[in-house]
Amino acid sequence: MKQVFLFLGLSVLMGTIVFFMLCGSETVSVLHAAPVAAETSIPKTPFAEGCDKCHGSEPAYQEWQQAGHSHALVNLIEGPYELRTSCLSCHSGGYEVFSERVYPGHTYNIETAVNAVSCSSCHSHTSREEHLLVQPAKKLCVSCHKMDCGCAGAGIVHQSQSEMFLGREGAGVKRMPSPHVRVMKKRCVHCHMTKEDPEAVAKHGGHTFIADMSVCSSAGCHDSADNSMAAKLPQYRAEIEAKMKAVKAMLDAAPDKTLQEYLDAKLNYDMVKGDSGYGLHNMPYANALLDYSLSLKSKLE
Ligand code: HEC
Ligand code: HEC
Ligand code: HEC
Ligand code: HEC
Ligand code: HEC
Repeated sequence: MKQVFLFLGLSVLMGTIVFFMLCGSETVSVLHAAPVAAETSIPKTPFAEGCDKCHGSEPAYQEWQQAGHSHALVNLIEGPYELRTSCLSCHSGGYEVFSERVYPGHTYNIETAVNAVSCSSCHSHTSREEHLLVQPAKKLCVSCHKMDCGCAGAGIVHQSQSEMFLGREGAGVKRMPSPHVRVMKKRCVHCHMTKEDPEAVAKHGGHTFIADMSVCSSAGCHDSADNSMAAKLPQYRAEIEAKMKAVKAMLDAAPDKTLQEYLDAKLNYDMVKGDSGYGLHNMPYANALLDYSLSLKSKLE
């Protein structure tokens, strides 16, 4: 009997504490985003960023919802790699305002995270950059789409668009930036956010960030009459994929997987694979990386 009372007493006490913690945090968030948080749909967790309250009906928001960035947290949790809180730095955003000082007791980690690569991963009302970007467009995408994060675990290259585009970090090959680096001042944004009508919701470009081959001719750069790029791509792709197959076979057959030559050959392979699967962002560099890997064959046998 005594235990039951003790249990009930403790439950009530805990409940009260949790209740006051929640109230407390909401008071704080009201202070921070005054008119918004006072609305009816107060988020269940103070971490939810809530930009949709004011921006939800804009094309940017609706485009974002359709595509990869809005699924980044779910894909992270359901994905094949070991989870760490450090993964959130690229897979989940919107916690910048949560300092221990202002929000004591609110720590975000794999269990408590709620946002994907959301608006505040890239924008902040306190920023002075154009479009309130947290970093200039040139640096923004590269800050996550890079392989040198040092947190995904040794030997994991799950994406490498920046290194491939900039033509660096591979083994045994000189620097070889894509010719696009020179002409595209906003880099990734140039191809991945181009859309015809800025006011309309698009299926490609804009905040879907989905590029397709139509961008090649959109700024009058490549000839659209013969749709040259879209026609050439399958051929480039087939060449690269054939080389990748050869490197893969070589890596699989290598008896000593600790040799530096093995690690170099594998790094180059993983980089090409980590870039849209076949090195799309810099075909000449992808070819050079794979050629170097193949040149190591005799050392691996
Ligand atoms: C805060 C980190 C972060 C930033 C900044 C970022 N990305 Fe991403 N991006 C991701 C993650 C994580 C994914 C994987 C999402 C998933 O799980 O499918 C992704 C996926 C993508 C995809 C695949 C989309 C799809 O629908 O499958 C494209 C394309 C892309 N990003 C382009 C960009 C571009 C262009 C920029 C710069 C404007 C950018 N990203 C900035 C983290 C980021
Ligand atoms: C430096 C930024 C960064 C960090 C840190 C990071 N990721 Fe990613 N991750 C990305 C980006 C960018 C993509 C999208 C790649 C693409 O679409 O080509 C991605 C894609 C993924 C995907 C989906 C695609 C795939 O390769 O299967 C999974 C799962 C994933 N990451 C897991 C993790 C895990 C687990 C961690 C932590 C151990 C982590 N990531 C840390 C940037 C990062
Ligand atoms: C991965 C980074 C990224 C994310 C996530 C992102 N944006 Fe953007 N946004 C950009 C960039 C880059 C630009 C500037 C594009 C340019 O310079 O052409 C931009 C521009 C804008 C603009 C002004 C131009 C336009 O396209 O209307 C608005 C409004 C905007 N974003 C709102 C949002 C909202 C709302 C969200 C959340 C749903 C969001 N953004 C998420 C990167 C991002
Ligand atoms: C209380 C309503 C409200 C909330 C909440 C809100 N915004 Fe805004 N935002 C505005 C208003 C108003 C503007 C100015 C609109 C304009 O200039 O057309 C603006 C402008 C912006 C712009 C600049 C668009 C451009 O054309 O360059 C971006 C980007 C943006 N907000 C992102 C965000 C993000 C990210 C969040 C969530 C962290 C957020 N906003 C939350 C009201 C809000
Ligand atoms: C020259 C134009 C161009 C530039 C610059 C560019 N991309 Fe791409 N990117 C593309 C095209 C085209 C695709 C392929 C889309 C498809 O499969 O139809 C693509 C594919 C991708 C994908 C894979 C999308 C998916 O669905 O899995 C990611 C991620 C990506 N790019 C990120 C980036 C990042 C980050 C940068 C900057 C470092 C960048 N891109 C620069 C044109 C470009």
